[in-house]
Amino acid sequence: MPKRVVLAYSGGLDTSVAVRWMIEELGVEVVCLAVDVGQASDDWDVVRERARAAGAVEAIVVDARQEFAEDFVAPALKANAMYEGRYPLVSALSRPVIVKHLVETARYHGADAVAHGCTGKGNDQVRFEVSTRALAPDLEVIAPVRGWGMTREESILYAYDHGIPIQATKEKVYSIDDNLWGRAIECGEMEDPWAVPPPGVWLLTEQTESEPRDLVIGFEQGVPTSVDGERLGMLEVIERLNTVVGSYGWGRIDMVENRRVGIKSRETYECPAALALIMAHKDLESICLERDLDREKSRTEPRYAELIYDGLWFSPLKQAFDAFIDSSQEFVTGEVRLRLSPGSAAITGRRSEHSLYDYGLATYDAADSFRHEDSAGFVRLWGLGIETWAARQGTDRIRD
Ligand code: ARG
Repeated sequence: MPKRVVLAYSGGLDTSVAVRWMIEELGVEVVCLAVDVGQASDDWDVVRERARAAGAVEAIVVDARQEFAEDFVAPALKANAMYEGRYPLVSALSRPVIVKHLVETARYHGADAVAHGCTGKGNDQVRFEVSTRALAPDLEVIAPVRGWGMTREESILYAYDHGIPIQATKEKVYSIDDNLWGRAIECGEMEDPWAVPPPGVWLLTEQTESEPRDLVIGFEQGVPTSVDGERLGMLEVIERLNTVVGSYGWGRIDMVENRRVGIKSRETYECPAALALIMAHKDLESICLERDLDREKSRTEPRYAELIYDGLWFSPLKQAFDAFIDSSQEFVTGEVRLRLSPGSAAITGRRSEHSLYDYGLATYDAADSFRHEDSAGFVRLWGLGIETWAARQGTDRIRD
């Protein structure tokens, strides 16, 4: 009995060549699994046919969009998760859901191993392999692309020689990974961090609208549930915002980030829905979270984002953070208004039935409810330690 391998299949050049390469070089049977996480893909029928033409014994497509939105993107949004303060973890979030389906498919088809098409220089290999070891430590992980040492030209030749139908041309210069949370575009001339990204790389953030408009996003316990008063599921909210916010030409990121494997890498992203939702969610938290909870949560968020980036979605620290974050979201219910205009999205208002903003306390009107007389004693005690230090040791003291 030949060994059976389930390959995370995209329909692209590398994974198509990987099917035949594993059959010929390793003598295995290959089951191809494509996971729909909202990427702008070919027709899934074409992807299935291509997998079979490459030699797969089975070609499966799973629609995981809803699950991805609700179980992977929503927790990240509640945590305002942004790697290095800027990248909403588009690719990093999709790998654990792909691995979950890879492992389920491996179990169903009695496979001994799973495989992915990542190279040795990126983060995605880390995410695939660490997630697999968390969910199914007994499964072997095969990484054909990492080991075969073929250049892109050689892979194209291999495909032609073996009658594998691929669309790739030698001109393909960018490495693109996308899903419903956004799009990552790397390589080509952008490998020079000074080079301006060419206009052709953008797809979701082409400015087509010029008339400014307002957009109201509703949240319940930290999760978006409506746009302009219309009730929508998480997936629909994201799709709606990608279209509407993207049409104002807003939602691009151009940065150099630190990969897990020690390489600095120039990345461009377009994530109109992700950036708008995180901005709105964080703003709503400013009225719904008590100060210490808000501050502690803000300190935790970068660490949470790093865990996801570094392939530790399935890990005890991530689980523990989730418990904290979920608890923090109990009262994060309300609405945020965004003003969209060409090239910009700005918050212009927020409200919540649980708001801790107290007009009577905050107003500078005469008729406030703040007890002014309490302040003098409070401020004196607040400064008492500093006053003592200044008298005995203070080097900043201005003496007469
Ligand atoms: N740098 C991003 C990350 O590590 C994007 C990776 C995109 N993946 C790709 N195969 N092009 O999450």
